[in-house]
Amino acid sequence: MTGRLGPILLAAFILAGLAGCKSGSEEKAAGGSPAEIAAALNEGPRAAESMTLNPGLASWGEQLFKDKACVTCHAVGERKQGPDLAGVADRRTERWMKRQIMDPEWMLKNDPIARGLMAEYALQMANQQVKDAEANALIQYLLRETLAGR
Ligand code: HEC
Repeated sequence: MTGRLGPILLAAFILAGLAGCKSGSEEKAAGGSPAEIAAALNEGPRAAESMTLNPGLASWGEQLFKDKACVTCHAVGERKQGPDLAGVADRRTERWMKRQIMDPEWMLKNDPIARGLMAEYALQMANQQVKDAEANALIQYLLRETLAGR
């Protein structure tokens, strides 16, 4: 049993290491300094232009929006403690939203848009421990609502 597990664990470590290197070099390619990485997140077409709606994922995202307590601070079409998310996929890129959802602390430290919003709302977005696939579904939900609200 352990004889078989050894190589599997080794392979897992190598893969994890490669994945780590990949994101490191992507960040380098995006600029290097946190300010440059933040600027790159806001470059390119807005999410509503670059993304294709996946209704199944969007439905899961709608559920996650409740389960992950986004609803305590956000709504679509209403200002709560945090920004109204109506039209957010027309304002932001997919990459920017993903980072904001998964790593709000980093954004508040480094991203001028997030810092501006924090000042405006006098509140810091809480990290809801959102996983990668969950973030994609949440963004699909926000995309669906943006398209529906046009
Ligand atoms: C504690 C309240 C709070 C919670 C919980 C919260 N947010 Fe936020 N959110 C904010 C605030 C405040 C901002 C403005 C930036 C900042 O201050 O961090 C924001 C910004 C955002 C933005 C950018 C809005 C814009 O106009 O560009 C998105 C997208 C977003 N949140 C999505 C989410 C999602 C999805 C969840 C659930 C996983 C969530 N938020 C949970 C308070 C919250």
